Order: sequence, then structure tokens, then C-alpha cells
Amino acid sequence: MPEIADIIRQTLAALGVSTPAEVTARFDALRAEFERDTTSARDEASWKSLRDAWLGRKSGVLNRITEQWLKSAPPELRPVVGRSLNELRAHVEQGLESLQRSIAAAAEKAALARERVDLSLPGVIRPLGSRHLVRQTFEEIERIFLSLGFTVVEGNEIETPYYNFEALNIPEHHPARDTMDTFYLDLPPGSKPHLLRTHTSPMQVHTMEKQQPPVRIIVPGKVYRRDNPDATHSYVFHQVEGLAVDTDVTFCEFKGTVEYFVREFLGSAAKTRLRPSYFPFTEPSVEVDASCFVCMGKGCRLCKFSGWIELFGAGMVDPAVYGFVNYDATRVSGYAFGLGVDRLSQLKYGIDDVQLFFQNDVRFLRQFP
Ligand code: PHE
Repeated sequence: MPEIADIIRQTLAALGVSTPAEVTARFDALRAEFERDTTSARDEASWKSLRDAWLGRKSGVLNRITEQWLKSAPPELRPVVGRSLNELRAHVEQGLESLQRSIAAAAEKAALARERVDLSLPGVIRPLGSRHLVRQTFEEIERIFLSLGFTVVEGNEIETPYYNFEALNIPEHHPARDTMDTFYLDLPPGSKPHLLRTHTSPMQVHTMEKQQPPVRIIVPGKVYRRDNPDATHSYVFHQVEGLAVDTDVTFCEFKGTVEYFVREFLGSAAKTRLRPSYFPFTEPSVEVDASCFVCMGKGCRLCKFSGWIELFGAGMVDPAVYGFVNYDATRVSGYAFGLGVDRLSQLKYGIDDVQLFFQNDVRFLRQFP
């Protein structure tokens, strides 16, 4: 820092100078003084005090010179003092400016060095998630039925007993209600009863209430039953409902569709068998079996040595159901099916415990990218 008092003393002493050469020499000395000062300013703060010391309005060196020297210089020296003063001012201003630039550049360089990224370091590989196996199975099922002209619709998981049971031809006290042990919602007294749907079949009724034939829909979704969890049971699981109703839907179309689905889903070698069964909302009702894809029908543990594996329930829509949705049962016919998605995934991918679908252990999930 310039010792301002010294400079002032010097400049005042310079009042005694008597030749232009002496004036110039004085200014040369001041210039050297400034140069010395600049070498000690290394950051923004010291640059600011340097600027104030030389250019400050009141006590800056240059203003003091103007006030105390220029004004009191003898007239014959005034031009040379004035010129030298202007030169010094320009020099100081320029010097301060370039010093400021180089301080800023040095600061930026230091920051860059601090924040340097080593591009040669190996990258971080972030693990990518994948679709859950159940979702993949849903999509596979949807793909097959979309290719047959079905559309995908979804419904609510909370239903009324009417849609889950009554309109599907399952009146109160019907034994079929017992096979679907139901979660009822705990609602304030006096509320209409609601339940968690035990199957996706309520969407058959909703769809037919809203839409006249032709209807060709599939309904993927979650369903709930009060089952104790084990290797083949879970209180929440997944179904895809299917419904096709038109004026001329035959059992033959039904059978062809089911066989096509089984071949697409399990492979072209899979054979299909329909076995008589019972559901209140289909007549006739069937259980769809596929030839065992482990032993190819010869008999093994998976098929319990029968050569066949039970896949899902289905049948021709019972005319009683049409009565609930104002369809003319004498004019329309159709079929319905209810695919158990968890069971189908288990069979297709050889998974012996359905609980694996719900535990979300990444060591399991990773095996189905
Ligand atoms: N809803 C039946 C069940 O969950 C399956 C089914 C659907 C059967 C459609 C026939 C027709 O068991």
C-alpha cells in the first residue's frame, strides 16, 4: 500500500521543484510507487483498497496531488504538472483495470482447478429398473387379445355386492359366495355395503350396462380374497377378465379363441382341453386345461401325472346375466373368461411360490428383465 502520508509529504516537498525535468522525475517516482503497490494486490479486497488509495475521491493520491500541488504550482510549471498528472491518472486507471482482470482470471482458474472432474474415472452405472413379472404377463395377455380385436378397460377395486355377486347370478346365500371369502369395507352404520371385488367379473356387468353389443373387452386388474397366504394363495392377486357378446357368438368361436390364446401364451405345442365346470354366471361353464409343457402330456410332478394343467375358468355367458343388463337374451350370445395372472406367470416361468410376486425382492425381480 502506498504510504499516503509519505506521498503527500513528497508531493508537498515537490512544491520546491523548479524545472519541468524535476516535475517529470517526481511523477516517474509516483508511477514506480504505484507499480510496487500493484504487485502486492492479489485478491479482490486488496485491489479495492489499492483503488481507494490512489483514486479515492477525498484522500486518494491523485486527488490530493490535484488539490495540493497542481493548484499551488508556479504558473510556468502548471502545464507540465497537469500533463504529468493526467498521464499518471490514465496509467493508474489502466493498471487497476488490468489488475482487476487478472485477479478475476486467477480466481476463475483456481475455481476450475478445485472443481475439476476427472474424465478418466470409470462411470457410475446406475441400475435400471424393469417391469414386474406380473406386469409383463398382463402385457403379454393384452397383446394377444388386442390382436383379436378386444379392447382393454379397467374397473374399480371397490364394488357393491350387487355388481360383485347379484348381477352375476350369485344371489345372497348362494354357496358360490362362500368360495370367495370377501373383504367388506368397514363403513359407518346405515351406509350401503361395499366390498373389495373378489374377481374382475363385475366389469362384465358395468360394461354391458353401458354398451350394447358387440362387446369385446378384457379387464386387467387386482382382486381380493380373504385367503391365508401360501405358495398358491394371496389375499390380493391379479386377473384378466374377458367378455365377448354379439348376436352370433358361438361356442365354437369361444373354443377357437381360448385355444389361440393358450398357443400364443404357452407356445404352439400347447394343446387345450375344456373340462366341464360350474360358475353361476356362465352356462355351460368350463375349466380350460393346457397340455403339460414340462412333460408334454406324459405325466410329471407339475401336472400331478395327469398330463394336463388347469389354466383358468370360462364359459358361455349365462342368459340370466343378460337379464340384469337389459340385453335381449334371445338375440345375443357370448362368452367370458377369468385368467388368473399370477397362476399363469407361475406356470409360464416355473415359479413355485406366488409370494415372490409380492415381496419385491430385487434378487427375484432381476431375473425377469
Ligand atoms: N370370475 C371367476 C373367478 O374368479 C372366473 C370366471 C370369469 C369364470 C369369467 C367364468 C367366466 O373364479
